[in-house]
Amino acid sequence: MAKKRKIAFVGSECYPFVKTGGLGDVMYALPRALVGEDCEVRVILPLYACIPQKYKEKMEFKGSFMMDLTLEGRTFFVGIMELQMDGVIYDFVENKEFFDWGNPYTGLWEDIPKYCYFSKASLAILNYLEWAPDIIHCHDWQAALVPLYKRTKFWDTPVGAAKTVLTIHNLRFQGICSIPHMKYWTGLRDDLFNYSVLKWNEQEANMFKGGIAFADRITTVSETYAQEIQTYAYGEGLDSHLRYHSPRLSGIVNGIDVGQWDPAADQLLAAQYDAETAVANKKINKTALQERLGLDQDENKMVLGLVSRLTDQKGLDLVDAIFPQILDSNTQVVVLGTGDPRYENAFRYYEGEYKGSVCAYISYDEKLAHLIYAGSDAFLVPSLFEPCGLTQLIAMRYGTAPIVRETGGLKDTVLPFSGDEGNGFTFDQYNASLLLGAVNDAKNVYFTNRGAWDEMVKRNMRKDVSWVSSADKYLALYDELMQ
Ligand code: ADP
Ligand code: GLC
Repeated sequence: MAKKRKIAFVGSECYPFVKTGGLGDVMYALPRALVGEDCEVRVILPLYACIPQKYKEKMEFKGSFMMDLTLEGRTFFVGIMELQMDGVIYDFVENKEFFDWGNPYTGLWEDIPKYCYFSKASLAILNYLEWAPDIIHCHDWQAALVPLYKRTKFWDTPVGAAKTVLTIHNLRFQGICSIPHMKYWTGLRDDLFNYSVLKWNEQEANMFKGGIAFADRITTVSETYAQEIQTYAYGEGLDSHLRYHSPRLSGIVNGIDVGQWDPAADQLLAAQYDAETAVANKKINKTALQERLGLDQDENKMVLGLVSRLTDQKGLDLVDAIFPQILDSNTQVVVLGTGDPRYENAFRYYEGEYKGSVCAYISYDEKLAHLIYAGSDAFLVPSLFEPCGLTQLIAMRYGTAPIVRETGGLKDTVLPFSGDEGNGFTFDQYNASLLLGAVNDAKNVYFTNRGAWDEMVKRNMRKDVSWVSSADKYLALYDELMQ
């Protein structure tokens, strides 16, 4: 019988403890999928002050030690608090100096030391617990120093035998700061601050760049994004570095946890539904959503949903540019998000201007998100770039047609509607009139060809957006590294 694989996940957020976006969803869902596939999985996370008390109360103290960090060899406390949930072990790194503030992020100046500490402490914890993983799967820049520490300071310790996988969830954030600041906090050797590893320019160093150079394998969250980031337009300054390392780079599309996102059992909905009952019961959710958000209650209106971090990445300037043209007497728009004040204010303005037809819910609200996915007819994701995107997957699972730009994971997961095929509506160039065209295509099918629309609703609900096949791809990659 094959040996049980031991996989350690290292990342800065994980639902339900702390989540600001899709990274938190993946850190939750992929380990759960892997434990079902003969893996032992430990997830290592910071014990942030913002983690809800109800989880903190369930944690068990597993030990503590002092760890040196910085060029001066200053020592810092490392506590280990553990919790088990559905077969996954979560080890939280406790240190009040680093993790007692922020939500969970603060600003790069503080976050750099915080995640240097976290990356090094993660390896130290695995040694302390005498749990030597086969694979250490690191996520985003916050865990990108793990492969460097593993191959330097930890190379001759038990954890040094593990292979590392570094997953890029979003290349826009790289962990860049001045070379002296990073040298001081990492305590890493001077010779690693060269252009092929950590050095970014004459003044600065880049944690993601170093991780990419030192990881055994690099993955990102869709095949298209894996190609895009090797180009100047999407490479965020790391395109040539990624091209150089491309033999070790591949794309594996995300799934969603279909238990967490299950319209047939979702208690946050006004009416649960499956593919058979979707057409009738989505209307009940639509009117419940309209009532909750103060919109005109009318099940015949088309509701467009948008749930997102309000940042430039998400293509919101396109939405802003055509907002009045999206609206008509039969169409409503619901926005749930927080972020850049420019977008928050724009959506607030439209809500005031088009009372009863627009709701701008400027907040982070997991529960309301469920009702929006269920109560909307179509869902806007016109991103400038999108490594994978989970909202279009959740929308499809809830029978809601995504309207997306053909980039990254959006391109890989949404097939354009064409009669009796397809999941949603797409456009290619980053251009507001093309977005408007896609919205109008959606409206056209919704209002004039309801039979075909309803078939698409059912098709989307039956589409496999689970982790099953992608978890298998990660397993194949782990196995290849373990040989
Ligand atoms: P990203 O990670 O770039 O933010 P994803 O599409 O991968 O984008 O994941 C976003 C996740 O965060 C989804 O689970 C989405 O439902 C959730 N989300 C985003 N904004 C909000 C919000 N304001 N309230 C509730 N959930 C949100
Ligand atoms: C990032 C990306 C998003 C992706 C998520 C999870 O935050 O912006 O596209 O779905 O990570 O991988």
